[in-house]
Amino acid sequence: MRRQMVAGNWKMHGSRAANQALLAELEMSLKAEWPIDIVVFPPYVYLGDAVRMLEDGRIAVGAQDVCAESGGAFTGQVSAHMLKDVGCSFCLVGHSERRRWYHEEDALVARKFAAALEAGLTPVLCVGETLDEREAKQTEAVIARQLDAVIATHGVGGFARAILAYEPVWAIGTGRTASPEQAQAVHSFLRDRIHLQDAKIARHLRILYGGSVKAGNAAELFSMPDVDGGLVGGASLSAEEFQQICAAAAVRH
Ligand code: 13P
Repeated sequence: MRRQMVAGNWKMHGSRAANQALLAELEMSLKAEWPIDIVVFPPYVYLGDAVRMLEDGRIAVGAQDVCAESGGAFTGQVSAHMLKDVGCSFCLVGHSERRRWYHEEDALVARKFAAALEAGLTPVLCVGETLDEREAKQTEAVIARQLDAVIATHGVGGFARAILAYEPVWAIGTGRTASPEQAQAVHSFLRDRIHLQDAKIARHLRILYGGSVKAGNAAELFSMPDVDGGLVGGASLSAEEFQQICAAAAVRH
């Protein structure tokens, strides 16, 4: 059985003091014996603080983005090796906010995915359709395109060391969650697509759901057979609510 994972994407929220307080609360409230993996994704500038505060390793630390280049004259960018160097073990790639506001296209996302793997980070590849795309019945075509761009560039092998996250854009920050059945349908479509290339990788690949996951809906989402945990935005900014979401994941393991 795949081990459930709960990941908190803090986006561009908080301050140094607020985020340290949140980390301290999380450390106290998350139970060491829960058989799940927990990761937080603070803003870049607070990654060092997070790594220091979470030294015991119960909660892993990841970055919200990564540069596709390995180093050089790329002002403002942060390489995968630098993230690894400061103690990160994960990074998000292709989050819909990066695709939308910073015009990241599939080919760039595929290069970021490869850069993360090459540096020894676990990439969390985010895919998802907009509301217009869903209403035009394009959901499968869109997420297949986003996934295939990575497979086409680097083969399916990288998914043995990666995580996939389905985040329907219409459910992010809107309070409108995909129903458990909608999430399951897309997750199983994604797993089947990987299965076409490699059955073993497909069986072990963790596929997280993201988009308005809350304490109140986590258990039913996580009860779906192909939903292996959550990528949580807003609700990860409250230690109490994040803890309840982790507790829901720990029940189904
Ligand atoms: P919300 O949980 O705030 O909808 O955000 C989801 C998300 O984008 C996580 O990466």
